[in-house]
Amino acid sequence: MSKGFHVAIVGATGVVGQELMAVLQERKFPISNLKLLASARSQGKKLKYCGEELTVFEAKPDSFEGVDLVFFAGGPVSKELVPEAVKRGAVAIDNSSAFRMDPDVPLVVPEVNPDDVEKHRGIISNPNCSTTIFVVPLNPIHKIAKVKRAVVTTMQAVSGAGREAVDELLLQTRQVLDGEEVEQPKAFDHQIAFNLIPHIDVFNENSYSREELKLLHETRKILHDPEIQITATTVRVPVLCSHSESVNIETEGKLTAQEAKEILSNAPGITVQDAPEKLEYPMPIFTSGRDEVFVGRIRNDYSQERGLNFWIVSDQLRKGAATNAVQIAELLCSRNLL
Ligand SMILES: NC(=O)c1ccc[n+]([C@@H]2O[C@H](COP(=O)([O-])OP(=O)(O)OC[C@H]3O[C@@H](n4cnc5c(N)ncnc54)[C@H](OP(=O)(O)O)[C@@H]3O)[C@@H](O)[C@H]2O)c1
Repeated sequence: MSKGFHVAIVGATGVVGQELMAVLQERKFPISNLKLLASARSQGKKLKYCGEELTVFEAKPDSFEGVDLVFFAGGPVSKELVPEAVKRGAVAIDNSSAFRMDPDVPLVVPEVNPDDVEKHRGIISNPNCSTTIFVVPLNPIHKIAKVKRAVVTTMQAVSGAGREAVDELLLQTRQVLDGEEVEQPKAFDHQIAFNLIPHIDVFNENSYSREELKLLHETRKILHDPEIQITATTVRVPVLCSHSESVNIETEGKLTAQEAKEILSNAPGITVQDAPEKLEYPMPIFTSGRDEVFVGRIRNDYSQERGLNFWIVSDQLRKGAATNAVQIAELLCSRNLL
């Protein structure tokens, strides 16, 4: 490790934590010291970073002494430990939902609302993965034609629910193929292998799941548009990595599919992959390991005058979590906010 910041990762042993280590390394984020933190279960584990073997320690309040920047990817532990890190002078970039809707905490997607980082008071939240990959293409269209309403159906990979969920899909798939009885699921409420589950996070009294409402509330906060209407159905699918979303929008201004393609092709962070005649459209097997949001199947909605359909796929461990978090850190560095 060379010149740079004192950085810590909480949840370094998880799927997002591991991706954070990969992205920090790839993008050569300036780190002079890296602290890897997780639960007591992982105390003493060894993980490699830039060829060096680092030991994992249990995350505790005093782990943040002398640390400049902490990436939080440890789930609910953020609630307790983020304030401890901030109290000790560190800036926290948090992947959990704990602070996302706090009016004092910026919720940032660098391609969409980079200036919001200026208002941070120690905590910056990374949006929910489905929201991040949704707003990257929604924002450039919204700026030109104002999106009044969006209907979204997500198809979310199992790695979105963490390491245990990945192991569960692999185990169940083997059990089904071997003709064995499928073990009682632990990560999900139902078998996920060879199945779809239209349920992510808990349901509220209106029968929407919390994941579905995150798409509404977080999008409004990121776009600074409290009026935009969004209704979502979130579905867990037996895909290892990369979330897909089928999106239908109604705009105030009229937009042809060709115009939308041009807008999206020139927008940051997006790769348009839209040649159905050549069988080219975004798919999780090709987007995993990539940082962009892929958009395809862009077409006018013939059922309404100002409507558009499109299909989004993106690696939710990267753009939906690790890459977005590291981009925020880079933004803080470039504006001397760290
Ligand atoms: N997966 C995604 O696509 C995604 C996308 C966006 C945001 N997120 C968010 O990112 C966070 C991490 O998710 P994940 O998918 O990486 O989960 P994961 O694979 O299950 O990893 C969870 C991590 O948290 C650590 N942890 C658990 N309890 C802890 C505690 N009490 N103290 C310190 N560390 C603790 C675990 O450590 P041990 O190994 O020691 O148990 C592990 O490193 C969650 O808040 C999630 O909502 C995930």
